[in-house]
Amino acid sequence: MPDSATPAAPPRQPRLIQLHSENGALSGAEIAAGLLAAQATIAPKYFYDALGSRLFDAITELAEYTPTRTEAAILAAHADDIAAAAGSGRTLVDLGAGNCEKAGRLFPTLQPRRYVAVDISVEHLRNALRCLQREHPQMDIVGVGQDFSQVLTLPPEVGDSPRTLFYPGSSIGNFMPDEAAAFLRRARAGSPGANLLIGVDLVKARATLEAAYDDTLGVTAAFNLNLLRHVNRLLGSDFDVRDWRHVALFNEGASRVEMHLEARRDVNVHWPGAERRFLAGERIHTENSYKYRIDAFDALLRAAGFTQTTRWSDEHGSFAVFVAAA
Ligand code: AVI
Repeated sequence: MPDSATPAAPPRQPRLIQLHSENGALSGAEIAAGLLAAQATIAPKYFYDALGSRLFDAITELAEYTPTRTEAAILAAHADDIAAAAGSGRTLVDLGAGNCEKAGRLFPTLQPRRYVAVDISVEHLRNALRCLQREHPQMDIVGVGQDFSQVLTLPPEVGDSPRTLFYPGSSIGNFMPDEAAAFLRRARAGSPGANLLIGVDLVKARATLEAAYDDTLGVTAAFNLNLLRHVNRLLGSDFDVRDWRHVALFNEGASRVEMHLEARRDVNVHWPGAERRFLAGERIHTENSYKYRIDAFDALLRAAGFTQTTRWSDEHGSFAVFVAAA
């Protein structure tokens, strides 16, 4: 055996940086305040415990829920034009990266010089980034654990070359429109000069929208109800899932699908230091999912400070992908 051979360089590994630390007391206080409000609410970020994240992945496979598939089809059909508008060879910052699959599909055309996946927990990213690194051994991959709904300042490891912010899946629809514009303004402030590649679900027929959020298999109902189990763990409350039913409705005036949990009977819910009585039929508001018209979303991007926008849509006008530049 030749013993003079240069040892092979160790395979590249993703760099993982955890900036955000879960603050259980803060989550508990926030959830308690929401439950005690006249119109009870639980923030949708609490959907995503381990089971909730799996249920969400299952939702994206449902016949009734089309945003994920339609967005992927638009990104594939217009890959070259989208890359020309967004620019190639930049640092691709994936906000709420999850399983990183969507961004991975963009690599051949966007040719990022670095891929930065941001998620609330770096643990959510570890396996996905390892797989991605195996598929793209030369790619410089960084995982950042950050609650980007609060802070959008990225660590120095992200570097200062031009960035494209990738915010797919119509996650922007889970903010109220003024909060969405404020979020995008903060994103611009944290990455000066960055382009934005963003997907947004569009207004469509009520029946289509309500079926997407109340599917026949009951997966979305399970996703909504699982929130109560997660809240029980975070708050120490005693919600019984069997006391609650899933409700999804399109609020046309507000242009949003709303999800609620409705009490099937009178119930008392207790947690350390407080309790709340819910009467039969009373609801806890758990999510808004805004549906935009193209012009309204274009106006939102401009309100966030982007001056040039280009967009692509599917043949039914059901979903749109925008590239926006400052
Ligand atoms: C993550 N977000 C964009 C999804 C949506 O459509 O608003 C969450 C969801 N809720 C119920 N189904 C899917």
